[in-house]
Amino acid sequence: MLNIAVLISGSGTNLQALLNAQKEGRLKAGAIRLVISDRPGAYGLTRAQENGIPALTINRKDYKDSGEFDKAISEQLHTHNIHLVVLAGFLSILGETIVREYDHRMINIHPSLIPSFCGDGYYGLRVHRAALEKGVKVTGATVHYVSEVADGGQIIMQQPVFVKEDDTPESLQKRVMEEAEWVMLPKAVEQVCTAINNDKERQVENESL
Ligand code: GAR
Repeated sequence: MLNIAVLISGSGTNLQALLNAQKEGRLKAGAIRLVISDRPGAYGLTRAQENGIPALTINRKDYKDSGEFDKAISEQLHTHNIHLVVLAGFLSILGETIVREYDHRMINIHPSLIPSFCGDGYYGLRVHRAALEKGVKVTGATVHYVSEVADGGQIIMQQPVFVKEDDTPESLQKRVMEEAEWVMLPKAVEQVCTAINNDKERQVENESL
């Protein structure tokens, strides 16, 4: 069983989707062992505590630069022996060192069909506002591996959502969450955990040859 850390910045509805999947046995190849927020008071921290999961705040503002901030996160990931990091509405950009350390073991959910409406400055409602301004008829969400390029890592899963004529950024955000993010993230996490477990088994087999 792999140890999963979920990094959040806000409400944590995607974290809740993972907690529900864990309770219902849809997420079984790994278990959520740690929740980290980069903002004090994020509601996702309460969701973690209610489920008996260690929850901590590592506030970007408490660190002199992003390197020190990343180091503080990395230390906690080590302390809790974390195998997979899930960025679920985590709005800080992590640097090269920690991203490389968790190569193919760090994933992110983004509320659009990458490569549309992603990268620097595209987060939360801004993504949906941009999609509506462009007039796209289909949007959705993407789960991808985290690389050094913002929202640029290998795509793991995508789920489309149709845009309605009278959508507002808020109504679109809600539907993308309900129809795409909360459905897809638990499936993607289970899939990635299974892949990591299979890799480990293969490694052990090779070592014993
Ligand atoms: C989600 O829509 C997630 O896809 C988005 O922030 C929201 C967090 O909601 N992430 C990004 O925009 C990252 N670029 P939540 O805290 O309720 O899970």
